[in-house]
Amino acid sequence: MNIYGEQLKLSIFGESHGPAIGIVVDGLPPGLPIDEAFIAREMQRRAPGNSHLSTPRKEADQVEILSGSFRGTTTGAPLCAIIHNANTRSRDYEPSLPRPGHADLAAYWKYCGCSDYRGGGHFSGRLTAPLVFAGALCKQLLSRHAIFVGAHIQQIGSFAGPRFSQPTKELLDALRQSPFPTLSQDSRNAMEQQILEAKSEGDSVGGIIEACAIGVPAGLGSPFFGSVESRLSSLLFSIPAVKGVEFGDGFSIASLRGSQANDPIVLAEDGSIRTATNRNGGINGGITNAMPLVCRVAIKPTPSIALAQQTVDLSLNRSATLAVRGRHDPCIVPRAVSVVEAALAICLCDLLLCRAAETAEALPKKDFSQEGGKPLQKGALL
Ligand SMILES: Cc1cc2nc3c(=O)[nH]c(=O)nc-3n(C[C@H](O)[C@H](O)[C@H](O)COP(=O)(O)O)c2cc1C
Repeated sequence: MNIYGEQLKLSIFGESHGPAIGIVVDGLPPGLPIDEAFIAREMQRRAPGNSHLSTPRKEADQVEILSGSFRGTTTGAPLCAIIHNANTRSRDYEPSLPRPGHADLAAYWKYCGCSDYRGGGHFSGRLTAPLVFAGALCKQLLSRHAIFVGAHIQQIGSFAGPRFSQPTKELLDALRQSPFPTLSQDSRNAMEQQILEAKSEGDSVGGIIEACAIGVPAGLGSPFFGSVESRLSSLLFSIPAVKGVEFGDGFSIASLRGSQANDPIVLAEDGSIRTATNRNGGINGGITNAMPLVCRVAIKPTPSIALAQQTVDLSLNRSATLAVRGRHDPCIVPRAVSVVEAALAICLCDLLLCRAAETAEALPKKDFSQEGGKPLQKGALL
């Protein structure tokens, strides 16, 4: 079913050109203050029509909370929020001509031709707006535990910029202020150039987002099926257009020797146990090891392009050519940064709630706080 999470459960609903899209978030602890200004800023980071590099579809993306909040805090009951669709233009979409690379044909088969195809319907990137809302709530919860999440655009098309080395809260805060967050201005210029070139040719480009979380306590996650990698990647792969996820050194770790791939375990000056490097991305055995959690997410080029492409006319059962009209992102990556961050924040909150449930049952006998971990107080999440 279309539900994510163990202790924190989410389900999203709506279609791109329907009256509204939204989310139900169940399992948030009661009493979490809801910072509406922060939520609005986060929504604007993803909202369309804010840059010459994004779709001109203009949406306010204002969130209306229908339940689960009272007098400025969460109540602990299911929180439902909606975002109205305003700026739709359904005439751009042709039901019988599925767009190559988009979900039109797969949706047609799965839903026996009954799905709302307008603007990609339920498969639209627009459905990531409710995820950003949930992510904003989760970031507020995480910040109370001194856990901070951030991301930057590391690659666009064939141009790759630098990767995180030692991310700090200041760096993550600065990245959040930018509509096109990169680790260097030169990279930004080169990446924007790649997007503008593709756009001018009626084409699109993809790229890679690198995300991290700092302050993550040791001991979140489980071995095997409940591993942090499995749970986070399942949420990241739910984001439309995500085609690859890797943790730490990811695929490139395969070409290293063990002596290079292992992160040496060291005693830090403050007495905590750390690893000297972070090639494993803050996870060993599916469980966080108190190092920054680092992952990279590959996003494909936007499927809807103005260049003519081959498809099949479903009403005539004949080959056809399609040059997609309408308003599309020439590159999804800049708008997906806040979505990837949201996924990381949501997953970490769920893991934190799971850990709190575990420790409420049986607190560890030993205090691991001197050894790099930050054990949670029994049942205390706020
Ligand atoms: C923030 C965001 C914006 C997107 N904008 C567009 C768009 O303008 N045009 C388009 O064809 N696809 C866009 N997509 C991608 C499609 O939704 C996605 O490719 C499609 O649903 C098929 O899913 P898949 O690529 O995961 O197979 C966007 C995705 C995201 C996350």
